[in-house]
Amino acid sequence: MTAPQQQAADTGELSAVLARILTEVGPSAGLAGRVADYIPALSAVDPATFGFAATDLTGHTIGVGKWRTPFSIQSVSKVFSLALVLAIEGDQLWRRVGREPSGNPFNSLVQLEHESGIPRNPLINAGALVVTDRLLTLTGDARGAVRDFLRAESGDDRVDFDAAVARSEAEHGDRNAALAHLMASYGNLENPVADVLEHYFWQCSIAMTCGDLALAGSFLARHGVRADGSRLLSRSEAKRVNSVMLTCGAYDAAGEFAYRVGLPGKSGVGGGILAVVPGRYSLCTWSPALDERGNSVAGVAALDHFTTLTGLSVF
Ligand code: DON
Repeated sequence: MTAPQQQAADTGELSAVLARILTEVGPSAGLAGRVADYIPALSAVDPATFGFAATDLTGHTIGVGKWRTPFSIQSVSKVFSLALVLAIEGDQLWRRVGREPSGNPFNSLVQLEHESGIPRNPLINAGALVVTDRLLTLTGDARGAVRDFLRAESGDDRVDFDAAVARSEAEHGDRNAALAHLMASYGNLENPVADVLEHYFWQCSIAMTCGDLALAGSFLARHGVRADGSRLLSRSEAKRVNSVMLTCGAYDAAGEFAYRVGLPGKSGVGGGILAVVPGRYSLCTWSPALDERGNSVAGVAALDHFTTLTGLSVF
């Protein structure tokens, strides 16, 4: 087969897999789990929504269900701020944040006091606040850096902040404020707490579609190479981001996610999950009803189905 014929065959096979997931998992969306309501602006979405998109290494994207409807990416943004900081300063970041699974809820305070204000990893809230702080120091505009990167990689200028979600989160942000103040008390924030929180909330509020998020994450499937062919991360750094996603991307359910899905993944309380098949695909699911640990019930089921049907996992 020529390369275009091979791509057409792969696309046909992938379309059939996505169609099957829509039929077999889509109807269960919203039957189990609950939409996040601790950020009130997130609670208005229909829990029965389901979307799934897949991007190949060339950026060719297909999807099923509501894959073209924007949603709040929330914690999925943590992957991008991490990648941007690593791209600028490499391993220096690891002096301020660890890379071990926390085994605790994403907004937990308990380990910080025992561990000198150094968060376990960059994908829990405390760790993401440190990464945002660093990105703010390095670029002067952390939220803008994340949004601009997502726009560039997806090729979609409609990717933007949702001011209502950002405000709602700030109004109900006591837990994140507590994390930030505790870390500041240990000297692990460089910028004023209020500035770090503001950039973090706005970065989490970014709204985009499954299709755009799969495109934006595809540099991780291409081992660090961006959509325009330039390199963001070295091959080794891309491996490390994927590894941290695998071990820490689903918080205290990271083990269960690895067991069921077998891919690096990052969830958000908006119901999105970005998952990576290194060297093959970037995947994004969206379904807003969450399990008690903050991961999309139908999203995890869809990714479990995807790797079972295709045999594509890192294991
Ligand atoms: O800081 C928060 O609580 C939210 N902006 C993001 C949390 C989140 O998405 C955790 N994901 N499962």
